[in-house]
Amino acid sequence: MSDPSIPTFPAADAVDPATVPQRRLRSGASMPAIGLGTFGSDHVPHAAVAAAVLDAAALGYRHFDCASVYGNEDLIGQSFQQIMRSGIKREELWITSKLWNDKHDEADVIPTCEKSLRDLKLDYLDLYLIHWPFPNHHPPHCDVSARNPDAVPYIHERYMRTWRKLEELVDRGLVRHIGTSNMTIPKMDLLLRDARILPAANEMELHPHFQQSEFFSYLVNKGIVPIGYSPLGSPGRPDRDRTPEDTSPTEDPVIVRIAQRLGVHPAVICVKWAAQRGQVPIPFSSRRSNYLANLRGVISDPLTGEEMRAIAAIDRNCRLIKGQVFLWRDNQSWEDLWDIDGVITPP
Ligand SMILES: NC(=O)c1ccc[n+]([C@@H]2O[C@H](COP(=O)([O-])OP(=O)(O)OC[C@H]3O[C@@H](n4cnc5c(N)ncnc54)[C@H](OP(=O)(O)O)[C@@H]3O)[C@@H](O)[C@H]2O)c1
Repeated sequence: MSDPSIPTFPAADAVDPATVPQRRLRSGASMPAIGLGTFGSDHVPHAAVAAAVLDAAALGYRHFDCASVYGNEDLIGQSFQQIMRSGIKREELWITSKLWNDKHDEADVIPTCEKSLRDLKLDYLDLYLIHWPFPNHHPPHCDVSARNPDAVPYIHERYMRTWRKLEELVDRGLVRHIGTSNMTIPKMDLLLRDARILPAANEMELHPHFQQSEFFSYLVNKGIVPIGYSPLGSPGRPDRDRTPEDTSPTEDPVIVRIAQRLGVHPAVICVKWAAQRGQVPIPFSSRRSNYLANLRGVISDPLTGEEMRAIAAIDRNCRLIKGQVFLWRDNQSWEDLWDIDGVITPP
């Protein structure tokens, strides 16, 4: 008898993965233009995220955004095994993982990546990112006011020591591409100056209310794929990660109007806009109808030029994932993490 927890591959309502647009990387490899986020935060249990990964693959997803700090890589690894048992080959999948902030020390990088590989039950990763450019650990689920007493600012020499070990992961064949996350232009300038193996992608917050146009164009011009996290404005994030100034792209009248025209949820418009603009959105969802709608969003008719221009005009420069826990001095503003004056904030 078949196991009812294992979906049929492909599902009856699946999207053909061959119809999903691909983003070409500098290496010549291709990444599916939408991925499934896997950060369940406080509200989605690890098993539910792993079940969504399995089911999303049956629906045509081939790109999964993982990280050791999400705490669920071992269960997601079981889903990957099931996915490959269904006949999908490893090389048809794009799997990203990330090095957490307490593992930047040179001696930790390779064993930490090997642990992710063991948990995910893979021989190699398609992409391995340095999750944040600060080695300032804080426990998951802590309050935004929490600070690590040993917190330090961005120290380029230190970051490069970590990066050299990521390069070694490529040399050893454990990782096909390496990249960054939560970077800024001045930090990226230094990395591009000093890297032997250039970053293939940068993962960053990107949604209609936080378009980061200057950094986005910078990355595209340098041949670095922008991967957009919280592409829907992270509506499920916990209260501790909200401030009164935060806005919601899925409630924006421009997004809502386009959603009404197409008869879809505003979230789907955010996904369509992202993929059409040229970034790779990685929306999280543990609800079948939602992750299927998001996948269908990137293969259905594009938004009109007028709609794309209307969305370009609603940018509010509203960063939602501010990163306060990474601050290294008292009385700092979260903006110090993001080098908003175009220079790295001094220690
Ligand atoms: N590199 C980094 O530092 C970093 C930081 C943050 C996030 N990320 C990655 O980015 C992923 C996505 O970001 P996120 O989780 O913050 O937020 P998000 O993708 O913007 O929003 C996810 C929320 O939207 C809902 N949703 C998804 N599709 C929907 C649809 N079609 N209609 C209505 N609601 C929908 C989901 O609820 P349901 O489950 O009910 O569908 C969930 O609550 C993460 O999972 C993680 O992989 C990376």
